[in-house]
Amino acid sequence: MLKADGVAASKKGGVSAASKRILDVGCGINKYPGAIGVDRNANTSADVLCDLDRFPYPFRDSSFAELRAIHVIEHVSDVIRAMEEFHRVVVPGGRVYLATPHYTDFSSFCDPTHRWHLNSFSFRYFGENHGGFGYYSAARFRQVKVHVRLLALWRWLGFEFLVNHFPRYRKFWEYYLCYVVRGKVIEFEFEAIK
Ligand SMILES: C[S@@+](CC[C@H](N)C(=O)[O-])C[C@H]1O[C@@H](n2cnc3c(N)ncnc32)[C@H](O)[C@@H]1O
Repeated sequence: MLKADGVAASKKGGVSAASKRILDVGCGINKYPGAIGVDRNANTSADVLCDLDRFPYPFRDSSFAELRAIHVIEHVSDVIRAMEEFHRVVVPGGRVYLATPHYTDFSSFCDPTHRWHLNSFSFRYFGENHGGFGYYSAARFRQVKVHVRLLALWRWLGFEFLVNHFPRYRKFWEYYLCYVVRGKVIEFEFEAIK
């Protein structure tokens, strides 16, 4: 177990080490293979015990090529501040992968430890499409990919295909249909712009 300073190992390799390193925040017991795992719960696969609600995180700037936050962002106290930390610790052009329940899914409101209930546009404030609210944060991400998984029935009926292949249809779905054609999980891939 690394203690607070999960960056100790990276100091030797510098940029080349960072170019391979993966940080899995809120890794739980499903740590991504080869990643450094972070969690606040010691009964997980975490290599670094750290509370994602305390800032800054114990990692150097630009010390990871990739960061994964799978079913975690809905648990943190401050989404904007957490995203800023994700941005800080990845290299320029580094990738950030997020997965979170769509707010219309059963799991979003079922788990009492979920603080946030998000949709497929909830991270637009870090990109160009910020709807006038680009001042929330100076951290900038390019959204490389967003994929919405729907409940099986809607997938079989072709809604998932439409939502994921036509951005304007995804907006239409979020505005008009999603309380009936309910979402399940939203998966994002971002590139950190620095
Ligand atoms: C739903 S689990 C997801 C685990 C794993 N990423 C997965 O996909 O199986 C959420 C994880 O985030 C961790 N977590 C929640 N809030 C946290 C915080 N503030 N600081 C650190 N870890 C946190 C929990 O301990 C838990 O392991």
